[in-house]
Amino acid sequence: MKTIKDINFKGKRVLVRVDFNVPFDKQGNISDDTRIMEAMPTINKLVSDGAKVILMAHLGRPKKGGFEAEFTLKPVAEYLSKILKQEVVFTQSLLGEEVTLLANNLKEGQVMLLENIRFYPQETKGDEAFAKQLSLLGDAYVNDAFGAAHREHASTATIAKFFPRDKYFGLLMENEVSNLNKLMNKYEKPFTAVIGGSKISSKIGILESLLNIVDNLVIGGGMRYTFYKALGHNVGNSICEDDKISEAKSLMQKAKEKGIKLYLPEDSIVADDFSENANTQYVPSMDIPEGWEGMDIGEKSVKTYCEVVLGSKTILWNGPMGVFEIKKFAEGTMQIAKAVAEATQKGAFSAIGGGDSVSAIKESGYADKVSYISTGGGAMLEFLEGKRLPGIKAIEE
Ligand code: 3PG
Repeated sequence: MKTIKDINFKGKRVLVRVDFNVPFDKQGNISDDTRIMEAMPTINKLVSDGAKVILMAHLGRPKKGGFEAEFTLKPVAEYLSKILKQEVVFTQSLLGEEVTLLANNLKEGQVMLLENIRFYPQETKGDEAFAKQLSLLGDAYVNDAFGAAHREHASTATIAKFFPRDKYFGLLMENEVSNLNKLMNKYEKPFTAVIGGSKISSKIGILESLLNIVDNLVIGGGMRYTFYKALGHNVGNSICEDDKISEAKSLMQKAKEKGIKLYLPEDSIVADDFSENANTQYVPSMDIPEGWEGMDIGEKSVKTYCEVVLGSKTILWNGPMGVFEIKKFAEGTMQIAKAVAEATQKGAFSAIGGGDSVSAIKESGYADKVSYISTGGGAMLEFLEGKRLPGIKAIEE
């Protein structure tokens, strides 16, 4: 990979695409800074080289085609200023004389963050003229936004063509690609994938690909009920994608043919309402009473799942086991986090990705006890499906 590692960028204006799409709490504070912190090695390297660092990023999915207060990156600029211990220059627009002047007048080692690039509709369209304009702000282009590398947007892909010689991968990107390649190509067996989340529709591609490499496929989250319905069981009010039942059946059939153990949770914690104050009971997953919905995996499933994880040498975890945002339905997810950490201490290689599982591992206190946490949600899934991500392709070509 052509990375920034061996280049000195002293005095150069370096345009860096980062993924600062971070979550905020109700008070407007950044509630998980993983993506910012993971971009710091690249930013610090450029700062210490004496580069003029110009960061481009998106936040959320603004739709109006202009400024929307809800999606401003200003709080991120303030946060970054504290981490860097220097005032990060923040620009409200991305194009025009004023921004060009600010970029040109940056001092060596100074950092500037451009406002949410998605305030310009040209960004998500991958617009060439827009990308060209942006490219004029930099002497070199660095893509360090692994989380957005599956998007063929102006700042993640199109822009690279305007830097035929001076385009590089950032250090976060390099780390992601090397860890994910290790996971896919150099894994030790047994390999267990723990896949959760509410919808099977968003995970079909990855589940199909994993059938080529894993020994155990452990299913959690709301998507388990689509599998249970496919097996002809009652799922009550649990989330279930009726239009994906045939895919669930086909996945189970393929797993059987390949000799892969596909685990579904045998028991569930169910509730009569999707809330903290709901009444709950503990039932077999294959018979959820009418009017009740599955909120977490039950204790027998937790025991089985943890045993499988603890007996593995390679572990991929993507997606929570239940509605872990509500404390009383978090146990299944927290126990998986603990098991992944314990397996890692025993020598397994563990990779965790997807916003919710990353938040869960952090909440569990085991984040520093796993091998690798990906900053990518959709990007990680698409990479693991074997797709060539546009953000990676654009640098490699
Ligand atoms: C993410 O949060 O997965 C990335 O930042 C990409 O965001 P997007 O799904 O809105 O393109």
